[in-house]
Amino acid sequence: MKTTWSWILLSALLLILGSPVISSRVLELSDRFIDVRHEGQWLVMFYAPWCGYCKKTEPIFALVAQALHATNVRVGRLDCTKYPAAAREFKVRVYPTIMFIKGNMEYSYSGDRSKDELVDYALRMSGPPVQLVTRTESVDMLKGSHTIFFMFVGQQEGVVWDTYYAAAEGYQEHGFFYATSEDVAAQHFDFEKLPAVIVYKEEQHHFYPHGHIAHEMDPLEVNETIFQWVNVERFVLFPKITRFNIHQLLKTKKYLVVAVVQEDKLQQIASHELEFRDMVEGVIRKHRPRYHDQFQFGWIGEPSIAHSIILDQLPTPHLIAINSTTQHHYIPDDDPMQMTPQALHLFLESISNESATAYGGDTYFVRLNRALFEVRRSLKDMWQGNPVLTTVIFGLPLGFLSLIMYSIFCGDCLVTEEESEEEGHEKKE
Ligand SMILES: *[C@@H]1O[C@H](CO)[C@@H](O)[C@H](O)[C@H]1NC(C)=O
Ligand SMILES: *[C@@H]1O[C@H](CO)[C@@H](O)[C@H](O)[C@H]1NC(C)=O
Ligand SMILES: *[C@@H]1O[C@H](CO)[C@@H](O)[C@H](O)[C@H]1NC(C)=O
Repeated sequence: MKTTWSWILLSALLLILGSPVISSRVLELSDRFIDVRHEGQWLVMFYAPWCGYCKKTEPIFALVAQALHATNVRVGRLDCTKYPAAAREFKVRVYPTIMFIKGNMEYSYSGDRSKDELVDYALRMSGPPVQLVTRTESVDMLKGSHTIFFMFVGQQEGVVWDTYYAAAEGYQEHGFFYATSEDVAAQHFDFEKLPAVIVYKEEQHHFYPHGHIAHEMDPLEVNETIFQWVNVERFVLFPKITRFNIHQLLKTKKYLVVAVVQEDKLQQIASHELEFRDMVEGVIRKHRPRYHDQFQFGWIGEPSIAHSIILDQLPTPHLIAINSTTQHHYIPDDDPMQMTPQALHLFLESISNESATAYGGDTYFVRLNRALFEVRRSLKDMWQGNPVLTTVIFGLPLGFLSLIMYSIFCGDCLVTEEESEEEGHEKKE
């Protein structure tokens, strides 16, 4: 009994002592940050005290600061309501905005707000776009620590190398890029000709198809094909889709086919939904070559993301396919629970030969509907988050304006950057 109590006391003490240590690693920045931004590398969260998403991100950010403690990346946060000059300097439009800042460059983070993703991101951004690997054991380490990485093998010169380097610069925010010699690579990858550009993921590697013949190709074509290859290969076969990475997935310009299931707060999924998701994953894994060129797959655990695409409720589990260029979407006729692998093949085929019925799209009307849908959802979130505040805001004459401001600044809306700008204009009119 006594030992139990001392344990509890000890844990409580550690908790009290422990938490300020963790949070203190996040530096509290002010307007003076504008003067020191050029010194070193920074990961900064721009926040507002009243923003719920910021509060949710705070403990994660504390862990990130702790993980990056021994690196040369400094982690800070800046209260934009207190220091509007800094907020203007960095053109902060939504809360929270997370930026990586080095020298004159600043990059807005658009990935998942999880500790691992943020730490990976900061580490990636703090190094050069392409890191050189000189030992074969290092490749083993990379295979162990990264889900995906790109590797250039061969002499670091010529059009393929130059383009690879440019693509690495362009996609540094989204992927790890390395280069190594033939000797080091030979023990890990079965290439035949050099130079080779490789993507390693899920314990397999795939090649940029034109590496060794690129010197005979038009440089513009090499450029285009390497960029596009990196753009589509930077995802695993069946990633979890969130409201953050969906924008990147849509940039593949493929059909995005998504199994929609309902995850609870503990990230548990009901067994019949899990069965459906596994069926979809199994089929596409087995038939990767057949669908890889045209389709990117994934799954969603938060149905509201799917709802804001199709602008309607959808029972789970479900399957939707989105044309990433036109934003049209497709839904299978069958009840998903009855869906066989054969029916899944037919569904994908009918999309690919354009015989499936397309819904929605990126017309003005659909966009307006989407904006209204988002406002409605923000309102609901706001009400659930703080009914009293919501009531007060609506009691005020400026209530409606506040709602719009809220949905602009604090809504992680499912629209791309350009679209949200356009919608902003629409609202002003
Ligand atoms: C290569 O392609 C990328 C992406 O399409 C483009 O941004 C870049 O300007 C191109 N570079 C050259 C040298 O054409
Ligand atoms: C999307 O729709 C357009 C127009 O119908 C079509 O040209 C394109 O091939 C479709 N597929 C993808 C993946 O964008
Ligand atoms: C498209 O594919 C579906 C499913 O395989 C098939 O039933 C249909 O006949 C095809 N349509 C065309 C025009 O090829």
